[in-house]
Formats: sequence, C-alpha cells, structure tokens
Amino acid sequence: MSLSGLIRALPKAELHLHIEGTLTPERMWSLAQRHGITLPYESVDAITDAYQFSDLQSFLDLYYQGADVLRDEQDFYLLMQDYLASCNAQNIVHAEIMFDPQTHTKRGVGFDVFMPGFLKALEEAKQMWGITSTLIMCFLRDLPESDAFDTLAQAEPWYEHITAVGLDSAEVGNPPEKFTDVFAQARARGFKCVAHAGEEGPPEYIVQALDVLHVNRIDHGVKCELAPALMARLRDKQIALTVCPQSNLKLCVIDDMAQHNILRLLDAGLLVTVNADDPSYFDGDLVANFMALERELGMTAAQLRQLVINGFTGSFLPEAVKARHI
Ligand code: ADE
Ligand code: ZN
Repeated sequence: MSLSGLIRALPKAELHLHIEGTLTPERMWSLAQRHGITLPYESVDAITDAYQFSDLQSFLDLYYQGADVLRDEQDFYLLMQDYLASCNAQNIVHAEIMFDPQTHTKRGVGFDVFMPGFLKALEEAKQMWGITSTLIMCFLRDLPESDAFDTLAQAEPWYEHITAVGLDSAEVGNPPEKFTDVFAQARARGFKCVAHAGEEGPPEYIVQALDVLHVNRIDHGVKCELAPALMARLRDKQIALTVCPQSNLKLCVIDDMAQHNILRLLDAGLLVTVNADDPSYFDGDLVANFMALERELGMTAAQLRQLVINGFTGSFLPEAVKARHI
C-alpha cells in the first residue's frame, strides 16, 4: 500500500483539536443565516480567503469572532457532528476534543447550551461509528485566573463528562504559572491536565507547565528543541507532545514545512503525536497533516506507524484499551 493509502487506512487518535476550530466556512455561513447575523464577509469563499495569518493573535481574532455564530444547542450539536463525521471519513477512532467555555459564557451562552449539544453528537458517533472521545475544557490564558476559577465552578454539573482541563489562547505574556492555583484545584477534583506551551512561547513555559501545573502532556511543545536538557527530560519521562504541523506553518511558527522539527523530535525518542489543532482555519485535517509530513519531510512508513502508535500511547484511554489499539 502507498504511504498515502496507509495514512488514510490506519486507525488513528487525535489529541489536540479545538472544536471551535472545526467550524467550516460553510457551517459559519449557514448558522449566520439561521440566526440573522450579518457576517463581515460577502460569501463563503470570502471567509476562506480571510484565513491568512501572521501569528497566533491574528488567528485568535478571527477564531473568536467566528464562534459568535454558535448560539443554541443545535449549533453546538451540528459543530460536533461535522467534526465526528470527518473523524469517520479519516478513520480517527478516538478523539480528545478541546472546547473553550469562556468564548461562549462571555456571550451569555452557558454550559447548559453547549454541553448537551456536544454530548448528543458524541453519543451518536459512538453508537454509529464506534468513535470514542474525551472532552478537555480549556481556560483562556489571556483572561485572569479568577475567570478560570469561575469556569471550573460553572462546569461542576458536567464534571463526569470532562476528562481534563487545558490552557490555550495567547501564549506569550501569559505563562503557565499565572494558572497555578486553578490547575491545583482542577487536579484535586480529579481532572487530568494539559497546557499549550512552547508554541510561540519559550521552552521555559514548557518547564513551568510541567513543574507548576503538573500537566500530563504538552500541547505543541515544538520550542523544546531550543533547550537540550528539557528535550532529554521529555524523552526520558515520555511526556507526550501534541504537535500540529500545519497549524505551525499557518501561524508562522515556521516559514516552511520543510523546517518542521517533528521528525527530528520523533527520531530523538520523544513521544510526539500529529494533530490538526484548528482544521477549518489551517486548511488541514489530521490526514492532511500526515500527508504534509510525507510530502515535505519525507516521512517513512516506520515513522508514520510510530506517530500513530504515539497518538494512542499519549491518550487518556485506559491502559487496557490503549493496548488494543497499539
Ligand atoms: N486556540 C485554538 N487554537 C489555538 C492555538 N493553536 N494556540 C493557542 N490557542 C488556541
Ligand atoms: Zn491548540
């Protein structure tokens, strides 16, 4: 089988995926029409054309604006359903899905609106396609820690449906240590922890995420290569990095995919995984990310298989379930 065929055929896990980042221009358009919202775009194509970013912040500005079309339970159901249908098409059999409550609660859209929509679509996908999933509730790091505490409290009726808490949004200037106390409380309540670190920010943020937030894995983490002692630590402890190559290219973390360090990190023995991040904004789902590694970096079949295995190893699945996938 060709490598492209293998990329499609292998059952895969996705560990770093923002559900708000799966909002397709077509769905944004149709939801805007449904709610009588005037978008700052003339057509679906104009939305796609606007997706040109110079850095993380330039993306976040459009991403938060786009989420404004998500108003009622049905919208969140359709959003999740679209993503899960794409999982089925890509042979993603397990997804650990991030959501940003504060993006919605600050617009007056509460947990009782988005959670039922998400859960209905997740349950249907499990029944129809056997796709398993976990939810990761992310705190927006550009907001104060007190807002994250409020969010953790508001989520209480839904705790049984949420596996982990995470940290996302504008990284530089918002170090992990800003969220020390809320992560401690989340850990005490039984949540696993993840954090975006070393996407645009320095390796020191990765160290803080590990030492201060006690995260189970690091989202992105590509800047670890600048700190050899940290790289050795990530390798020795086999801490998963959820790397998103196409995202790094679109947000100008790298100038060219040929420069991406993912295969260097893999060959150095780190537990790196491949993920889409925000597929609708970065023009690339999980399969497209793997295809880019084949095309631009000459990924081999052995490297592909290891990356796919790492996706399950780094997941929050129970060990016995992981073993069935590996
Ligand atoms: N939210 C959605 N995508 C993100 C990313 N790549 N980095 C930080 N926050 C995000
Ligand atoms: Zn992300």
